[in-house]
Amino acid sequence: MTQTLITAALPYVNSFLHLGHLAGAYLPADMYARFLRLSGRNVLFVCGSDEHGVAITISAEKEHTTPDKIIDKYHFANKLAFEKFGMSFDIFSRTSLPEHYDTAQEFFLDWLDKGLLVEKEENQFYDETAEMFLPDRYVEGTCPNCGNERARGDQCDNCSANYNQTDLINPKSVVSGKTPVVRSTKHWYFKMGDFQQRLEEYIESNASKWKDNVLQQSRSWLKQGLADRAATRDMTWGIPVPVEGAKGKVIYVWFEAVLGYISATKEWAKLRHTPDAWKSWWQNSDTEYIAFLGKDNIVFHTLIFPMLLMAKDKYILPTNVPANEFMNFEGKKFSKSMNWGIFLHDFQRDFPSPGQTDSLRYTIAMNLPETKDSDFTWQDFQARNNNELAAIFGNFVNRVVQFLQKNFDGKVPVLPERFAKVNDAWKLLLEDFSREETREQALEKYEDKHLRYFSPNDVALIAALHFGAKKVAEHYTRFRFRDAVTETMNIARAANKYFNDTAPWKSVKADPDECAKTLYLCSQTISALSLLFAPILPNTCATISGMIGAQSVTGEPNAPQIDRWSTVALPTLTEGTPIAAPEVLFTKIEDSTITEQVAKMGGTTAVAEVKTPAEPSDIIAIDDFKKIKLRTAIVISAERVPKSEKLLKLQVNLGTETRQILAGIAKFYTPEEMVGKTVVVVANLAPAKLMGMESQGMLLAANTPEGTLALVTPESVVGAGSEVR
Ligand code: MF3
Ligand code: ZN
Repeated sequence: MTQTLITAALPYVNSFLHLGHLAGAYLPADMYARFLRLSGRNVLFVCGSDEHGVAITISAEKEHTTPDKIIDKYHFANKLAFEKFGMSFDIFSRTSLPEHYDTAQEFFLDWLDKGLLVEKEENQFYDETAEMFLPDRYVEGTCPNCGNERARGDQCDNCSANYNQTDLINPKSVVSGKTPVVRSTKHWYFKMGDFQQRLEEYIESNASKWKDNVLQQSRSWLKQGLADRAATRDMTWGIPVPVEGAKGKVIYVWFEAVLGYISATKEWAKLRHTPDAWKSWWQNSDTEYIAFLGKDNIVFHTLIFPMLLMAKDKYILPTNVPANEFMNFEGKKFSKSMNWGIFLHDFQRDFPSPGQTDSLRYTIAMNLPETKDSDFTWQDFQARNNNELAAIFGNFVNRVVQFLQKNFDGKVPVLPERFAKVNDAWKLLLEDFSREETREQALEKYEDKHLRYFSPNDVALIAALHFGAKKVAEHYTRFRFRDAVTETMNIARAANKYFNDTAPWKSVKADPDECAKTLYLCSQTISALSLLFAPILPNTCATISGMIGAQSVTGEPNAPQIDRWSTVALPTLTEGTPIAAPEVLFTKIEDSTITEQVAKMGGTTAVAEVKTPAEPSDIIAIDDFKKIKLRTAIVISAERVPKSEKLLKLQVNLGTETRQILAGIAKFYTPEEMVGKTVVVVANLAPAKLMGMESQGMLLAANTPEGTLALVTPESVVGAGSEVR
C-alpha cells in the first residue's frame, strides 16, 4: 500500500468543540497525518462538519433559531478553532454542500436499485402535542440495556448500546416532555442481514491489528445479528429521499454522514481542478484507509460504513479504526449543561500563543484515552508545560543557542581541523547502527570503533536520535500515540543530558576543538528535534526552523514527499549557519493562572447568579446550623398534583417513618423518574399546607445555570434516614 487516506469523524455542528473531541479523534489523527507526511508518504487527510440529524434540529430549537443558522454558526467556529489548534486537514468540508447531496442520493438510489432497501410500515414514537414523529434523540428514556435514565432514542451514552427507540423504558418527548404515542409510518429499511457474513469476515480479517475496544463493540453487534435498519427518517432537515412520494422523509443521518468523507474528497479534487482525483483514493486498492473517531462512533465505521461501501462496490474499506475512549475533566465526565469541561475556543481565548497551543496538544497527547478513559487536569497542563516542555525541550534549545551566541558568534561552529571528518564519520556510525535492532546492541558492538572522532557522549547522543526516532515511528505506526510522545520527550532528555555531560562551559577553555564539535552536534540535534516534535508541536517546530534558517517542515499538507524521518539522525545544518537569538519557546504558567481556570469550571454562568458571600449579619453560629435536621430519604411514590404545574406529591421513606412531601420540582422531574431516588430532606421543618394537602418536610435542590433544578443526592449509596451534616 503506497498511500494513506486519513479521516477524522465529522463533528456535529450543534455545539463548540471541546478538549474531549480532540482527545477522542482529532489530535491523534493529526499527529498520524503529520508523522506519515514527514516519513515521505502520500497522505490525504479529510474532515468536515456533519450538519444533519436530530442533534442539529434540537440545538436549533434550544437556541430559538433555525438549523441553517446553527450549522453556519458552528461550522465556521469549529473550522477556525481547528485551524488554530493546528489540524493539518487537506480539506475541512461540510455535508450541506451540493456535492454531498448528490453523493448521498446516488448511493441511496443504488441501494434501491440493488434491492437492498425494503419499504415497511413500522411503529415509531409520535408526539401528539408537537404533531411530529420523534426520530432518534427526540425521545429520551431509560436504557433497556443498563438502566441509565437519560438514554437517548438511538443510543445509550452510558453503555453504548444501540436499540430500537420503542424499546426505551419510560420514553419522553424531548420537544414537549410528554409521553409519546406509538404510530405507524413508512420507511426504507436497509437489509443489513445481507451483509452479516461479509462483515464478520471483514472484522475477523482485521482482528490481529485492531484495538480491543473496537473489536469488542463490532463483534457484539454482529453477535446479536444484523437486523433491518431504517435508512430514512420523518424530518424536513436533511437530505431528501430521492423517490417520488417521499415528501417529509430524509436519509437517516448516519447513512449519509459517513459518505461525507467521500464527498469531501470530491470537493478537494474539484478545488484542485482534478475532479476525478478522488477516485485514486477511494477506488484504489493501493490506498490504506485509517478512520479516526471516538468510542461512540465505532460501529458506524466498522460495520455501517463498510457495509455501504461493500454495497456500492469498487470502494476500499477502512484498514484500521483506532478509536479512543473518552477524556474526562478533573475527574468528571464532560457535560455541556453542567458547564463541565473545556471548550477549545475558550482555551484559545485565554491561551492565545502558538506555544500555548502546543502545550495543550502535548498535554492531551500525554493523556490520550487510548485504552481506557483518561483525565485532563489544569494542574497537569501546568506541570507538562513547565516541567517538561520548558524545562527539558525548551531548556536544551535555549542553552545551546545562548552558548552559540556567546562563544561562536551565533553560528553553527565550523569544525576544527582535528574533527574535519566528523560528517563522514557520522554517516558511517549510522550505517553501523542501522544494522542493529536495539540501541544496547549497537552501542556494545560499535562504540569503540567510532571513538576516533566521537566521544562516548557523542555516540550516546547519536544513538538516542537514531534509535529514538525509530522507536517513535514504531509507536505511531501502531497507533500508540502516548508512547510516541513519551519517547520523543526522552530524546530531548538525552539531548539535555548530553549538554550536561559534555560540559561545554568547561571545554570552551580546556579543549576548544572539542567544544566546537560538541556544539556542532548540539546544533544538529536542535534541527533533528524540530522534526521529531513536529507531529506534536507543529508551531514550536516551525519557530525553531525559523531560528535555524531552515524551511519549516512540520508535515503540512501539500509539502514535497520526502522521507525525512529515517534520516533524522544525520547532520543537516552546514557549518557557519547563523542561529537566531533565542525565542522563549514555552513560557512558564503561573499558579494563579491555573487557579483562575479551575475556578471557572462548573460555574461560569452560575457564578454570576450566586449570591454574594454572606454579609456579616447573615452569618450563623454552628449551633444555629445544627438546629436543622437533614436526613436522606428514598422516594417511594410520586404523582402530579392536579391543577399545579409545579408540585409533585411524594411519599418518602425516612428510615423510621414515611412522610408526604410536596415538592416544587414538577417542571424538572417527572413522577416516574423520582421514584427510587435518594434525596436529602429537612426533617424537622414545621408541616405546611399546600393546595390543601400537608407537606411534612422539604427537599434540597440546587439552581442550575440554565434556571432548572438539580436534586441534591448523596454521592454513594447510603440508604434512608442517614444523617446529613
Ligand atoms: N457527527 C458525529 C458525531 O459528532 C460523527 C459522524 S462521523 C461520520 O458524533 F462519519 F458519520 F461523519
Ligand atoms: Zn445503557
